[in-house]
Amino acid sequence: MSARPTHESVVVPTGVRPARFRPPASTSDAPVLSLDGPWRFRLFPEAVTGADPAEPGDGWDTLEVPGHWQLAEAPDAWPYGRPAYTNVLFPIPVDPPRVPRANPTGEYRRTVTVPSAWRADGRVVLRFEGVDSWFEVAVNGQVLAQSHGSRLPTEVDVTDVLTGSEDVLAVRVTQWSAQTYVEDQDQWWLSGIFRSVSLEHRPAGGVEHVAVISDYDHVTGDGELRVDVDGGADRVAIRVPELGVETCAGATLRVPVEPWSAESPRLYDVVVSTPAETVTLRVGFRTVTTEGGVFRVNGAPVKLYGVNRHEFEPTRGRAVTPETMLSDVLLMKEHHVNAVRTSHYPPHPHFLDLCDEYGLYVIDENDLETHGFEPLGWRGNPTDDEAWEAVLVDRVTRMVRRDAHHPSVVLWSLGNEAGTGRNVAAMARSVRELDASRPLHYEGDRSSEHVDVYSRMYATSREVALIGRGVEDALPDGALDSRRRGMPFVLCEFAHAMGNGPGGYTDYLDLVDAHPRLMGGFVWEWIDHGIATRAADGTPFHGYGGDFGEELHDGTFIADGLLLPDRTPSPGLVELAAAYAPVRIGPAPGRDRALEVRNRYAFTTTEHVRLTWTLVADGDLLAGGELDVVLAPGESRVLDADDVVGDALDQVEHEGAVWWVVRAVRREGSPGAGPGVAPAGVPAELGAGQVLLRVAAPLPAPAGTIMRTPEGYAVGPVVLDEAGRPRSIGGTPVRLARVDAWRAHTDNDARRSWDAPIADGEAWARAGLERLHERVDTVELEGDALVVTARTAGAASDCGFTVRYEWRAVDATSADLVVQMRPEGRWPGSVARLGWLLGLEQPRAGAVTVDWAGLGPGESYADSARAALAGRWQHTVDELQTRYTHPQENGARRGVSRATLGLAAGPLTVTAGQVRVGGTTVHGVELTARPWSDVALHRAAHPYELVPDGALWLHLDAAQHGLGSAACGPGVLPDATLRPAPVTLQLRITAG
Ligand code: GAL
Repeated sequence: MSARPTHESVVVPTGVRPARFRPPASTSDAPVLSLDGPWRFRLFPEAVTGADPAEPGDGWDTLEVPGHWQLAEAPDAWPYGRPAYTNVLFPIPVDPPRVPRANPTGEYRRTVTVPSAWRADGRVVLRFEGVDSWFEVAVNGQVLAQSHGSRLPTEVDVTDVLTGSEDVLAVRVTQWSAQTYVEDQDQWWLSGIFRSVSLEHRPAGGVEHVAVISDYDHVTGDGELRVDVDGGADRVAIRVPELGVETCAGATLRVPVEPWSAESPRLYDVVVSTPAETVTLRVGFRTVTTEGGVFRVNGAPVKLYGVNRHEFEPTRGRAVTPETMLSDVLLMKEHHVNAVRTSHYPPHPHFLDLCDEYGLYVIDENDLETHGFEPLGWRGNPTDDEAWEAVLVDRVTRMVRRDAHHPSVVLWSLGNEAGTGRNVAAMARSVRELDASRPLHYEGDRSSEHVDVYSRMYATSREVALIGRGVEDALPDGALDSRRRGMPFVLCEFAHAMGNGPGGYTDYLDLVDAHPRLMGGFVWEWIDHGIATRAADGTPFHGYGGDFGEELHDGTFIADGLLLPDRTPSPGLVELAAAYAPVRIGPAPGRDRALEVRNRYAFTTTEHVRLTWTLVADGDLLAGGELDVVLAPGESRVLDADDVVGDALDQVEHEGAVWWVVRAVRREGSPGAGPGVAPAGVPAELGAGQVLLRVAAPLPAPAGTIMRTPEGYAVGPVVLDEAGRPRSIGGTPVRLARVDAWRAHTDNDARRSWDAPIADGEAWARAGLERLHERVDTVELEGDALVVTARTAGAASDCGFTVRYEWRAVDATSADLVVQMRPEGRWPGSVARLGWLLGLEQPRAGAVTVDWAGLGPGESYADSARAALAGRWQHTVDELQTRYTHPQENGARRGVSRATLGLAAGPLTVTAGQVRVGGTTVHGVELTARPWSDVALHRAAHPYELVPDGALWLHLDAAQHGLGSAACGPGVLPDATLRPAPVTLQLRITAG
């Protein structure tokens, strides 16, 4: 007899039932008893000293199930250890399958009394949806099973050990186990019974396991339904009430149906019954193929506009509630996301029910990652170790058996970052044996030998362009090369959404639009995993790596989502919605005064879409109209501005720059659910784009007179001292005024991209930009101008700017400032910004309103400006801030032609005049306003550390560096990179 497996054994779960399908909750009539709620709990420091399984745990603490013990009382207390974050590195010595003796071990106890009828007939099954990481189950002191696979279900038959009265269930859970080595995902290390537990009655002759094939033949319009039922097939009846048809297990039924897609997630109830049990499945008919190197659903090429989703809530970790799952699905639909990769494990099964119902294409990923072996040269990697084959095959097949009935699952993924090796082939084989209807995905299989789609993460857009055209570098093995060249290509991760960013979505999406081989991609990642905690004084905040005293951690890298931890959409998500828009409206290739409208739906015409246009100048709406355009799926049309708005434009007398803005909005009265989404997740705006048709007229020349005063000069409302430094404007004291070239580093600025010699932030530090000081050289009245020359540079650096300020009075309330900056010296790289920084004394700066004409309403940067449209917008300074989990540069508004600040002393308006950067004319300035300095922003580790300092800090920039995705992937692309360049920046400042 072999010894009882321990948490360090590399064996498949023992004493468990075969994995079975998981239909939506309560669609079986077999009775279920939820065991969620308080369990008795005690944490032991070592697995070897855990409690006796017969110990009932009377007098122990209680712990809520589902949940992680480390978060038992988050955010207020941490009675059972704290969360810990590492990305790639294992937080324990790499010594598989051994783990430290110091191994927090949770002992869970509760009693249960099952109805006597349950034991009279059939079996009683104890079901766990997910336990992290290894566990052992005992009933009344008798050990029955050991299991693992944290994000996979386990069922244990407990029938024979139940007495029917106050039976003691005991579950021992270890934090570390041999399985830790294959569950090295980039997330918090959190333990315990974190998904639901139930006792289920399995009637004799019930519906044990069901496999569904529900194909759709797009040529005939027929659905093909085959339901295989494990055991007792002759007594199974299968009905599709809505279609009025019946069939039997194992038979194939063909019947005309409406197909399922993410655009129209049409589901049919399929009722599977035996005399003992009836289960209702929600079935969608659809066929997924990769023929001809194109990813197709129901015969039509489909692009995946995806996100990577980890399960996360700030106080609950991976123990996400059904409400959170629904809110994620609705937020995705509202932001035009049509696909989700369940990185990097099978999600809670209810999430897939929601994806079926609301329409999201899913890459369902195996619970497998061994990334921590990479820094060790992949030595000892379980993926290539025969001893692990059965365990890895068990994992992936449990996923397929659980989830195969979901129409939303369009690809199976064998895992993430687990290297290569013999077990990849074994896993692929085992999946294909169970389900050959979906293509296989695994990015780690670099030659795509065992999979059906070519997948990469963070490839540059340049490389993606080559792949799109089928001219990427060849693999050494010719046969593998031609096989891979015939596959569709997916970016399983791209555009790393850490902090402020990413920039550059459009570069990828334009390629995806252009090349049939490119099937789309998945942004990394959905949400910042910031854990709710408190500062020493009780102030709540969301913590990242290092905030919990970890010995080894990866800091802010866990805050890289499109949602802030409290699920507020970040500007990156708003931008993503614009980039993923189903009706893409953007520059028409090779045409200046035109927009291209593209219907990106695969199955839906744009009949439900109203296309409207407006002419906007300085935020004023000058004219508008509607366009009569209906596009077939995949069709595009170029709209020439002069054809559409020619007459209206001719009549415009406005002096401001004129933008032509075209919007696609859902028609009122179009089916409430639109193309296939339920009302709650229906976005009203389906796409928008704009083009500048006319540049602004120059500002009228100033004709006022500069006054000499005892202290210096008065230029309209601006008072300057003898040294030519502004001291007050319209009565508001000036704390600081000088040119600027620095910003508080974004997470992307702080890291070097794979293809750059130096991180942007490092280049700025070397150039001394974070410690700029200005030396005034001359102050002279030249004609009607006060001319101040200066040199602005930082300590320890020999590069800097020569600066010339020309002040002119317009009248008593207005002054003109022309700033000229010339870089000099040798520069180590880019600059963050080129513009004028003005600090105005302002006690309640956060409450100051900013009313601007320009792009808005959200923030925008050179490579992240699709969501910002020309108009007139208003926010308070507080509202202009984005409180990233890790504070950093944020809140810029581009293309600002005029902004009025509601200062305590009265309104102050800044109007942009001529703006030139390196010989190129720019329209409007980039405006940023904050109640704290950039230095304070840079130094703060968490948002609560930022306190208003009594000034309003205003950036009026000719240009700012883009965002890029350097934290993981390519940096800022050349068209959004700001290099040291001569700048002319004309501003008209009006007080009152
Ligand atoms: C990828 C990995 C993800 C995540 C990301 C960086 O390599 O698959 O899990 O770590 O990098 O945030």
